[in-house]
Amino acid sequence: MTAVGIDAMEIWTGKLKLDLAETFAPAQGDDPGKYTKGLGLRASSFPDVYEDIVTMGANAAYRLMDRKGLTPEDIGRIDVATESAFDNSKPVSTYIAGCLEQVYDENFHHANKGERKFACISGTQSLDDAYNWIRAGRNRDRAALVIATDTALYARDDPGEATQGAGAVAMLVDEDPNLVELSTEQGYGSADETDFLKPNQQFPSVDGKRSVNVYLARMREALEDFAEVAGDIHPGDYEMIPFHTPFPGMVRKAAALGYRHIIRGTDVGDLMAEEIGHQPMRADFETDDEFHAAIKEYTDALTETERYQDWYANTIEPTLQISREVGNWYTGSVHIARAAGLKHARENGLDLDEARLLVASYGSGAQAEVHAETIVPGWEEEIGALSIDEQIRNRYELSFAEYEQIHDVHNHEAESDVEEFTAPEDEFAFDGWGRMGERKYRYVE
Ligand code: HMG
Repeated sequence: MTAVGIDAMEIWTGKLKLDLAETFAPAQGDDPGKYTKGLGLRASSFPDVYEDIVTMGANAAYRLMDRKGLTPEDIGRIDVATESAFDNSKPVSTYIAGCLEQVYDENFHHANKGERKFACISGTQSLDDAYNWIRAGRNRDRAALVIATDTALYARDDPGEATQGAGAVAMLVDEDPNLVELSTEQGYGSADETDFLKPNQQFPSVDGKRSVNVYLARMREALEDFAEVAGDIHPGDYEMIPFHTPFPGMVRKAAALGYRHIIRGTDVGDLMAEEIGHQPMRADFETDDEFHAAIKEYTDALTETERYQDWYANTIEPTLQISREVGNWYTGSVHIARAAGLKHARENGLDLDEARLLVASYGSGAQAEVHAETIVPGWEEEIGALSIDEQIRNRYELSFAEYEQIHDVHNHEAESDVEEFTAPEDEFAFDGWGRMGERKYRYVE
């Protein structure tokens, strides 16, 4: 069977930066440690006045197509995953195709375009759609362009405000990929949940604490479902595990639970039992509360062991390195986690050809999905072409007053008249409104 997977990717971060410890924490009257240690975040990215989900997505896609020497004729499908859409009918992919048609002689009239919605997991669902389209033999030798783009804003003073972010990831899905091959096996954990939603409103209604527990519960189901189809998982099977990362502290919790789960019945589980005792079993406790207290105590002891900490440092920590600097990108979040892990591997000279990733996606509402990816020769060149470090470094750093202004600029309900903080150059920029309320864009040389 021909391999199908991600051939190349590009990342575009919003051009503004809010430093959480230096700027946000003092203004909120909080200890900076809550952000840097607790949530695990240093900064958030925000879009400048002329940036939005279309410009970020189009800029990532153009950079990808340009670097790979592609033209619209090579693309048979454009899927955009977003939960920040501004139109309930016309998909963002049409706007992005319109942008790209400004810079290519050919058009995308032949390409199937759509928009996927299921909170943050729709980026991975769009990868699935592209994979299935190619596997079904409907692609006529063309590749799919999958774009995950979001402006993850919360209402001012919502606890989620510290986890905001904005950026886009463009991925080319094709046969014989140069980055990763996707597994056919997938595991799901999906339930009707009311933890994070946007019922016809821009900013989410969030039950933050509950959303953390829902993430963990659905992720556990997805892991179990994956093991049912792919076989038991051993902690040594996967080089890295990129998780959906709303903030690195969330992944710290998910990783501990996942590890506790996958070591059961393995040699690692036996070694751990010698060191900290056996995992508590429900049957040994009279009440749920007693059992949960014992599980918490066991998990705390587990995360203190050298064995766990080594595994975490190699398998999880590298995937969090971009996220720490940019915040939650919703649909793009798990995809920047994959990129961060591979970037770390390249910078540290790790040989990953044929190594495997376990990719753990999540979307509120709620659904988790777990699949495996095999890293293929070519990955180093693809990852080496990313400019995300430079983009992160070059962001304009906002004062708190400027942050308040830019939040208003991107708030659909607020009136604002703010000058841009940076100047667009060789990129798509928002260019005002059309006669039917549509957004207009232009390429700025
Ligand atoms: P909060 O309640 O303000 O924060 O917001 P907290 O008081 O829980 O503190 C956060 C952590 O910092 C805690 O760590 C504190 O102990 C620690 P934990 O106990 O949880 O391990 N802390 C400190 N550490 C060191 N030094 C200090 C200090 N002070 C405190 N001085 C909350 C947290 C998650 C509720 C909030 O950020 C929120 O509502 N976020 C938005 C929802 C969210 O991200 N949920 C995650 C799961 S759902 C998901 O991932 C889906 C999503 O991406 C959307 C989608 O799918 O579309 C959100």
